[in-house]
Amino acid sequence: MSEPVYTGGTASLDCPPQARSPWLRIYDDDEALAGGAAEHIVELAAEAIARRGRCTLALAGGDTPRPIYARLAVSPWRDRIDWPRLQILFGDERCVPPDDPRSNYAMVRETLLKHVPIPPANVHRIRGETVPARAAADYQHVLEQLFGTDGTAHNRPRTGCDLVLLGLGKDGHTASLFPGLSAVAETRRWVAAEYVPKLNMWRVSLTPVVFNAARNVTFLVAGVAKADILQTVLEGPEQPRRLPAQAVKPDDGCLRWLADVPAASGLRSLR
Ligand code: 6PG
Repeated sequence: MSEPVYTGGTASLDCPPQARSPWLRIYDDDEALAGGAAEHIVELAAEAIARRGRCTLALAGGDTPRPIYARLAVSPWRDRIDWPRLQILFGDERCVPPDDPRSNYAMVRETLLKHVPIPPANVHRIRGETVPARAAADYQHVLEQLFGTDGTAHNRPRTGCDLVLLGLGKDGHTASLFPGLSAVAETRRWVAAEYVPKLNMWRVSLTPVVFNAARNVTFLVAGVAKADILQTVLEGPEQPRRLPAQAVKPDDGCLRWLADVPAASGLRSLR
């Protein structure tokens, strides 16, 4: 990947001048990361709503975002979001029913949604209980309604997500784009269903077509267990089929990485 820009200080809404490089902010620990990420989401949501009247926010699954969503559910962050103007999407889903503890929707419902005044119609979950290919096709339709298509043969979203949150797996996966499988290489469909052998599970994921049309993409990475992979993804050679997180490079949007010190401890540029 191109050289990341290391920066500190307060969050800026627009990309820094080096906008086309990934931009990294490092927090002392996971608590500070959670507070900083909540602030980041609130600010970008307010910005999108002020400019365009709504904010489309695609959420990450996994454990890292839990404390971030929990913060958004309480004051002062909760009171700073115009919930009826927020449209909540999911970057990926495990193919399980919405009450299954493995469901990303269930995690978001418990940590965030049930505590805030968001209209149910503004929450667009991936139907993990459905046949995976059907769930993907249905979600593609949901996204087309929200974003419109650009009418070209490439079928791109006419407008992108205002903010996509993503996690990073120890193998370099992000959302449910896994190394060596096909969804990461998708250039046409916006949503893909894929069986992930190492998890023995079907997943449904937004594809790079959607992620790379976003105005903002922010990765959230915490803990020393992610140090090696964060270093490889940010500072190693480009091999997006092996490291799907590298396939996320918004065409015109801003790519940011928020990490804590343990996760960033392997970065050579910081030594
Ligand atoms: C999921 C995810 C996935 C996740 C990473 C990191 O459904 O599991 O969306 O891509 O973000 O695996 O997960 P952790 O935050 O739990 O490390």
